[in-house]
Amino acid sequence: MRFKTPRGTRDFLPEEMMERRYAERVIREVFESYGYREVATPTFETLELITAKSGEEIRRHIYHFKDKSNRDLALRPELTAPAMRLYVNMLQFEPKPVKLYYFGNCFRYERPQSGRYREFWQAGIELIGSPYPEAEAEVIAVALDALEKLGLMSYELAIGHIGVLRAILAESGVSGEEQDKVMSAIDKGEGVKELLDEIGVAGESREKLLRTLKLAGERERVIKEAAELLENSEKALTELEKLRELLNILEGYGIKNYSLDLGIARGLDYYTGMVFEIYAPKLGAEKQICGGGAYSLAEVFGGEAIATSGFAFGFDRLMLALKKEKVRFAPASNAACLVVPTSEAVLQEAIKVSRALRKHNACELELTRKKLGKALRYADQRGFPYVVIVGDEELSRGYVVLRDMHSGEQKEVKISKLEELKLK
Ligand code: HAM
Repeated sequence: MRFKTPRGTRDFLPEEMMERRYAERVIREVFESYGYREVATPTFETLELITAKSGEEIRRHIYHFKDKSNRDLALRPELTAPAMRLYVNMLQFEPKPVKLYYFGNCFRYERPQSGRYREFWQAGIELIGSPYPEAEAEVIAVALDALEKLGLMSYELAIGHIGVLRAILAESGVSGEEQDKVMSAIDKGEGVKELLDEIGVAGESREKLLRTLKLAGERERVIKEAAELLENSEKALTELEKLRELLNILEGYGIKNYSLDLGIARGLDYYTGMVFEIYAPKLGAEKQICGGGAYSLAEVFGGEAIATSGFAFGFDRLMLALKKEKVRFAPASNAACLVVPTSEAVLQEAIKVSRALRKHNACELELTRKKLGKALRYADQRGFPYVVIVGDEELSRGYVVLRDMHSGEQKEVKISKLEELKLK
């Protein structure tokens, strides 16, 4: 009986894991270069935490279960809520800003397709404790920096501002919760008008909101048109001004190539201000490789309200995008050498030899009792640059044979010198 992986989950073969680990390292280095520090949280959380402010779309896709003590639990669909729970419980009194990053698997019970899985990985940051545009700009800059260091060439950045949309709704008396519902409908791209009817947003405000949602494209034009449209909405204009400031600061990072899209609402309920998404157009339907923005969650988890912003890469989609562009990953970190005992009698010595070599090199001991000829062929197939042959005669003189698999040259090396040997 053979078993398949559960629907929407995947196995990763060694070659692929090597590429994933390489990309993960690059991303971590970028996050850390801006002062973000890693945290890790449990794979499952209480259902209550996961459903609070997560947004209708995500709530529909939660893996929810009861444990043996009848507790309602859920596999995490994202890492912002867990990171903010951790912040409120343990880091609230640290000096601000608190800069956290994470890399972990997430679960959503979605219909699987290319780039959409039920288990996937996110790499993200949360910047806690600055309401200023320079903090929001840094968050966007970190994401783009990581993409650049990974070597992704073709991607599009779109920036929006949920604060503007919420302000228009607030001005016509729409409550926070109802605003969340409208954002959710905007994100799905359906039922917005019906929902506005239902909650009684009519006349000028309705018109303003619907027209704002359509404002997208080149920066100067969008800002100008939005300013005209929102002329009499003081709150919305204040939010628009914040967006303008953010865009100015982005220029300092050399970030000019993006489109403004005031129709971005994101699928999660917690966003309050700037939002952004990054797309890899070559990925087709599931092209969003990154999403984030400014949000408010600490108070939902019993903490003091505090300005926060962050983002998460969809790591699997990022890997797909890099592969589509045939980005070259760091060369295979194969072991540098294979240690081959020529008979069982020298096995103990061969173990000692491999331990000495490991001081400076990755090396494998031949474990399947292949004859020398077969072992050399295997080393060739697997791409070992060196083979160390441990034979009776050389051993008796205190030597082993080092074979360069590329040139075929062989030389004897003193066993006592193996600890100093650096092969690659
Ligand atoms: P999100 O947009 O829901 O945001 O997810 C972030 C990224 O995860 C998406 O852009 C996408 O690349 C990837 N992703 C989502 N669902 C799947 C899936 N089923 N299969 C593969 N990849 C997927 C968040 O999760 C927020 N917590 C981001 C954030 C952090 N906002 C502020 N801080």
